[in-house]
Amino acid sequence: MSEPAGRESRWPTANGSLATGPQILCKSPGVSGKRGVVGDNRTRILEAPRMLSEAEVVRIARDLLYNRAMVNYQDKPIGALAAIPQKARVYVDGQLKVVGSSPDLNYHEVFIRDNVPVMVFLLLDGRPDIVRRFLDTCLDLQSTSPQTAGIFPSSFTVDGERLLGDYGQRAIGRVISVDATLWWPILAHVYVQRSQDRDWARQPQVQRGLQRFLDLILRPGFCDVPTLHVPDGAFMIDRPLDVWGCPLEIQVLLYGALLSTAALIGLDLQSREAGSADPSAQKQRWQMQQVLNWARRLRGYLLKHYWVNTHTVQVLRRRPTEQYGDAVSNEYNIQTEAIPPWLQHWLGARGGYLIGNVRTGRLDFRFFTLGNCLGAIFDVLSQPQQRALFSLILQNRAELVAEMPLRISHPPLEGDEWRHKTGYDPKNRPWCYHNGGHWPCLLWFLILAVLRHRRGSGFDSGLRNGWLYLPMQDLLQKSYQILLQRLPEQKWAEYFDGPTGVWMGQQARLYQTWTVAGFLLAHHLLKVNPEDANVFDLPKLGSLYRACH
Ligand code: GLC
Repeated sequence: MSEPAGRESRWPTANGSLATGPQILCKSPGVSGKRGVVGDNRTRILEAPRMLSEAEVVRIARDLLYNRAMVNYQDKPIGALAAIPQKARVYVDGQLKVVGSSPDLNYHEVFIRDNVPVMVFLLLDGRPDIVRRFLDTCLDLQSTSPQTAGIFPSSFTVDGERLLGDYGQRAIGRVISVDATLWWPILAHVYVQRSQDRDWARQPQVQRGLQRFLDLILRPGFCDVPTLHVPDGAFMIDRPLDVWGCPLEIQVLLYGALLSTAALIGLDLQSREAGSADPSAQKQRWQMQQVLNWARRLRGYLLKHYWVNTHTVQVLRRRPTEQYGDAVSNEYNIQTEAIPPWLQHWLGARGGYLIGNVRTGRLDFRFFTLGNCLGAIFDVLSQPQQRALFSLILQNRAELVAEMPLRISHPPLEGDEWRHKTGYDPKNRPWCYHNGGHWPCLLWFLILAVLRHRRGSGFDSGLRNGWLYLPMQDLLQKSYQILLQRLPEQKWAEYFDGPTGVWMGQQARLYQTWTVAGFLLAHHLLKVNPEDANVFDLPKLGSLYRACH
């Protein structure tokens, strides 16, 4: 593929105006040796493709992000579209014509979760102003209606002078994304830590937003576990995939959100007089303690019930069942038969990971990549556990990386399980989309986890000097090379299908923004500044406890 200099195309921007820029020529999938032109539904036959240099790919990705994906509100960028629209407006004989499809479901909206990599990249790229506007815009959209007060929309769109949030009322299946509400405080903390804009966090409207979030989650429920119970499809996996109950990703995000909220409230407390008797300061101190106690319990719970390695599985298999009372070893009444045999190979001698879900009688042993990477990034996992996780990923590289890093979940639901648990969902057939598909937007999370770990680990750690270091280095570098070569060629597709991830996703959107941002982050962390892997560092429980006493 190549990008000829000087050829101009006209693209619709997010606010509907036309942006002018060079066309990006790509190898057209399924048309070997021919290349299609982005923004034009006609395929132009061109000469044999030329490999793009790394610098060219980075330049294209930056152009897509800054000039094509960004949405303006009141003439300023506030976030990025999920996918860059494929319909193009072109001038034909002096007339402006729209070529291509009608609006693409909700991919023209600004999703909070999809904007996490975008905002992290913007922070590292010196654009905290856009991140601040994104956070403010989301805050304006935080629900205040009685039944949903405190929740953030999954996505929003700009309609003239209005912002319209989707709280699930427009989504297929009317699913509300719980993760969006958990991501906001995390991103707010990351923004403040990186930009040092503490005054932003101390503003009354930001503190009110945090209060609404706490009012939403710090309330009595029907059970005394520290996990958050959600419906099917309440996070990145936003369709039925038997991920209702207490899916890992939500629990790890909850942990991050609790610590981040405590830190942001702590900043406000700091600016008041120490030990102030002001009732609102007392309330904040009390809340911080509740939040921190919860975070501590949650971490302990995740390590006790979600963490598995070859040792814990052997203990699990030999426990008695049907126990009753306070001091039992098998609280969730798990039968040995419910523990899948594939775990033996998958775990190997050194591997460990956080399982997908804990429900009575039914642990979900599927591996969910994002939840596990976040478990390492947020230090839910101890340093040795992080090494066990990396070892597991290395050992199962053929499955998790294969031809397109990284697989979102493993193994896929198949046969009757797929039929009954997804409701015959054709998008989520085995090895497709959320059900074992490969998502390039996930790689940077693993890179971040590994670089953070390497920075924080002692000299005797397996990662800095020993057996993990070289193979992990190799895995990350080769994975990055895959993105570098395949993504521009395959139009920055949203996801890839099949047991090796070699096929472009059957219904994948093209020019998916978090694919682009994920690539830019992988490039930044591996090639530009690995030190920036501290961008997601959360405050430590101990220092937060001290701050509220
Ligand atoms: C799909 C994905 C979801 C993503 C959205 C927008 O619904 O499942 O995770 O946020 O597309 O890209």
